[in-house]
Amino acid sequence: THILILNGPNLNLLGQRQPDTYGTATLAEIEAQCRQTATALQVEIDFAQSNHEGVLIDRIHAARGVSAGLILNAGAYTHTSIALMDAILSAELPTIELHLSNIHAREGFRHRSYIARAAIGVICGFGPAGYDLALHAMARHLAA
Ligand code: DQA
Repeated sequence: THILILNGPNLNLLGQRQPDTYGTATLAEIEAQCRQTATALQVEIDFAQSNHEGVLIDRIHAARGVSAGLILNAGAYTHTSIALMDAILSAELPTIELHLSNIHAREGFRHRSYIARAAIGVICGFGPAGYDLALHAMARHLAA
């Protein structure tokens, strides 16, 4: 079972970026944690990040028929990108929307998510632990 974990814009700066909101863990540390969890769950993962909407869309297209599921922290594209939503719908991949912060406790413009419309579920507010939770949730979803 293969799961793609995809991270959107500005998440390459995790650890340095607004640590009060996003914590001090770097994306590399989160990736290492995901690899441990994936091993424990006996799933394979790809872990990627891009600041570019089109690159994220290309990655989702490439996962079609290859990966069994997608975990997506689309960053701010969550709130703006109909194109990413359409990519998920086109890829026919069960998708979990993920955020480090609780987007519903933040500015109003973060309350709307285009990704959620195409997702089986949403995890937000648990910081880096959310990546583990999403992997567990996806593994259970795929096993069901
Ligand atoms: C985020 C939340 C988004 O609103 C924000 O634009 C991000 C990070 C999160 O993980 O909490 O870049 O997706």
